[in-house]
Amino acid sequence: MSVSYMTHPLIKHKITLIRRETTGTNEFRKIIEEIAMLMGYEALADLPTTDVEVKTPIETTIQPVIDGKKLAVVPILRAGLGMVNGILALVPSAKVGHIGLYRDPETHQPHEYYCKLPDSIEERQIVVVDPMLATGDSAVDTVTMIKQHGGKKIKFMSIIAAPEGVSALMKAHPDIQLYVGCLDRQLNENAYICPGLGDAGDRIFGTI
Ligand code: URA
Repeated sequence: MSVSYMTHPLIKHKITLIRRETTGTNEFRKIIEEIAMLMGYEALADLPTTDVEVKTPIETTIQPVIDGKKLAVVPILRAGLGMVNGILALVPSAKVGHIGLYRDPETHQPHEYYCKLPDSIEERQIVVVDPMLATGDSAVDTVTMIKQHGGKKIKFMSIIAAPEGVSALMKAHPDIQLYVGCLDRQLNENAYICPGLGDAGDRIFGTI
């Protein structure tokens, strides 16, 4: 698995803004989308293209367009939903699948309750999105579920990751590409990322 850490100053700046506890729901949601778009731009830099003929007002020319089946964006419910529109801003024709897992508050283990993926998933470039890669349990389970449905070309995007989550995902799924906005220090005893930004789902949906 390859791990890419984002270096663009705009991404770094926007991550700092969403860390602030005073950043309200409206602004938080907007910035999560913007970061997803900027990270998506980097993560999709290797999308395959094919040459097509285009008639400009001046002449006919051969130029590239994105090749293959439409992209599948797969948010991990619920916080991943906050990143979907950022990717769709780049690739409006992408299909959107959903994976639902919840974390047992005592054991922190993920339990699956929903999985709906676009058809021909085995042919699509899949981009799984979850703003926080914490223990990695949900991420590992999600990628396993997608592979069980036939998914092959998988990229995983997280805005903030803990070293524990990166290691767990790398170990379980060495074949995927991981994109991380910022690598934080560690998890605390409640499996929150430190310094992190708190509960991303609560902050996106205003349920604090
Ligand atoms: N999920 C979150 O939303 N925040 C964390 O810090 C860890 C997991």
